[in-house]
Amino acid sequence: MRYAKSMAIEIKSVTKAVIPAAGLGTRFLPATKATPKEMLPVVDRPAIQYVVEEAKRAGLNDVLMITGRNKRALEDHFDRVPVLESQLAEQGKDALLAAVEESNFLAGIHYVRQGDPKGLGHAVLCAKTHVGDAPFAVLLGDDLIDEKDDLLSRMVEVQERTGGSVVALMEVPREAISAYGAAAIEAVEGEDGFVKVTGLVEKPAADEAPSNYAVIGRYVLSPKVFETLENTAPGRGNEIQLTDALQTLAQGDGEGEGVYGVVFTGRRFDTGDKLSYLKANIILASEREDLGPDLREWLKEFAQTSC
Ligand code: G1P
Repeated sequence: MRYAKSMAIEIKSVTKAVIPAAGLGTRFLPATKATPKEMLPVVDRPAIQYVVEEAKRAGLNDVLMITGRNKRALEDHFDRVPVLESQLAEQGKDALLAAVEESNFLAGIHYVRQGDPKGLGHAVLCAKTHVGDAPFAVLLGDDLIDEKDDLLSRMVEVQERTGGSVVALMEVPREAISAYGAAAIEAVEGEDGFVKVTGLVEKPAADEAPSNYAVIGRYVLSPKVFETLENTAPGRGNEIQLTDALQTLAQGDGEGEGVYGVVFTGRRFDTGDKLSYLKANIILASEREDLGPDLREWLKEFAQTSC
């Protein structure tokens, strides 16, 4: 940062979040036949609302969702429903009214359609016009991060200090690494809050992975990534992979290049597959004041009688 200032380069702060939400949700069919997977409830809020709330907590009040066909429910969810709101107000249902209103005013939410889904890298490229020439965050909707954790804010700080791109890394068992982007990392002298990412591979076989550090669904990217994505050929699955563009950026040391990692050791809830989705619902509900005590009591009985 000091370096950039002395060079009179304008430091642009991170204010925008991009949420790719064009996926078909095939793992949850038939539930996702007519309902976007992002709208599946986790306890009583759609999964996507947790992600928008996380962006807001990190100070990102401008959210761009990359959507596709059959995703209109997302727009409806983050919009006002005057008839419902006045009915709740008349009936004195203040808590419900507050819950409905909260999702109306979470952030300035914008939408762009991906049309032809050609991978995560392609989805991010769809944000180019909206984002412009400033660093921005990408939040993948399948990953929910414990709301007590400030992972995204820490990543924003690292981006502002380094000027590069920042990924969130989580150590996973070796046999699980093939479900993720995997990172080769090295320590940065004098820094314990982040590491340097020297290489990235999308979904490697366990014996070819550079480490057990998996990229999880949070990124804070330099706008340089757009140009890099435009020059990134389709990779794994014949899709334009964000991981491949980041691998290119990791090799550079020019302005906006370089990739760094923040190692996350907190709780992450994966709502992208059925078992983890069910676990996320149970864990989060059991921690709620209104539901937790009864649910925990019932879980004990259930475990004793049914397991
Ligand atoms: C995407 C990325 C992958 C990353 C993962 C995190 O994969 O391509 O690098 O590790 O998200 O959840 P997906 O899960 O969309 O297949």
